[in-house]
Amino acid sequence: MFLLYFILSGLVCFLVLKWMKRRMHCMDVTRLNGKTVLITGGNSGIGKETAVALALRGARVIIACRDEEKARKAVREIKSRSHNLNVIYMEVDLANMKSIRDFSKSFLQQEKRLDILINNAGMPSVLDWTDDNFSMCFGVNHLGHFLLTDLLLPRLKESSPSRVITLTCSNYKYQKLDFQDLNYNLFPFFTYCRSKLANIYFTQELARMMEGKGVTAYSVHPGYVHSNWTCHYSVLFRILMQVVMFMFFVSSEAGAQTVVYCAVSDEVLPHNGGYFTDCRPATLRAFARDPGVAKKLWEASERLVKLA
Ligand SMILES: NC(=O)c1ccc[n+]([C@@H]2O[C@H](COP(=O)([O-])OP(=O)(O)OC[C@H]3O[C@@H](n4cnc5c(N)ncnc54)[C@H](OP(=O)(O)O)[C@@H]3O)[C@@H](O)[C@H]2O)c1
Repeated sequence: MFLLYFILSGLVCFLVLKWMKRRMHCMDVTRLNGKTVLITGGNSGIGKETAVALALRGARVIIACRDEEKARKAVREIKSRSHNLNVIYMEVDLANMKSIRDFSKSFLQQEKRLDILINNAGMPSVLDWTDDNFSMCFGVNHLGHFLLTDLLLPRLKESSPSRVITLTCSNYKYQKLDFQDLNYNLFPFFTYCRSKLANIYFTQELARMMEGKGVTAYSVHPGYVHSNWTCHYSVLFRILMQVVMFMFFVSSEAGAQTVVYCAVSDEVLPHNGGYFTDCRPATLRAFARDPGVAKKLWEASERLVKLA
């Protein structure tokens, strides 16, 4: 009896997961020939699968990564899976503001177009500091991408209509920003939630500032994804999470679908600044839709990365 119950439960779980995966597939087949896409953290997980999907659509794909060996391996894989040889990597460490400035300078010198910027790289819930003494989550997930996007805006405007897609997480709702302590670094999970809330405000303010300039912005929750994010944790946690992720999380390929949808579909255009999940717009909690906070975060971020 117990065995039958076990098998039936397993079957139900399997079917639900299958259904979820199918539901999350981006059906838009727009080609991207002649377009240039830049994906941070494109060597792993959701970023790599996004790179494959956009290379398959004919784009020139540049993955911006911090580890040369991993990046080269990923470029080989993306090329072979997409049959698109127009894939390269460029080095950037989003935990280091000088690296971001150097990267942006090289990018602007080398690349004549930037049609789609995907701010994908991310650190999960960890307590650490960047080279510039920002809390690791806030520094990499928000400030690093904030500086990168700002420095690349001239090329995005020249290539308009262009898009900026930033990966966030539905866990944003568990925290609010504390402007007295933006570098909050106390409870790992909360540092992550705050950085992902910052991604949402960043997207809203970017969309507002770029209105009429041909650059649109979207934030994406990719779902809970079986990627490589556990590599930052202990072996025991990794083993436990492998089981949980196998049972309940979706694949990186499925996680990439909403990112791809926001990158290629014209259905997203009326939702400039919006938040997407499962290949459709989703509603944010009221506190995460406050334009005053979004503007305040933008101004504070400018000061922190020394743009103002
Ligand atoms: N997985 C989920 O369930 C989930 C849920 C919601 C949102 N997200 C978001 O989705 C995005 C992608 O995550 P993922 O799940 O695909 O994780 P992942 O497999 O761990 O990929 C993260 C990528 O970010 C890169 N990265 C981290 N720190 C960096 C730095 N300082 N400079 C440059 N690159 C850096 C990593 O490079 P290395 O390989 O060199 O470490 C890796 O390529 C993240 O923004 C994450 O917050 C994920």
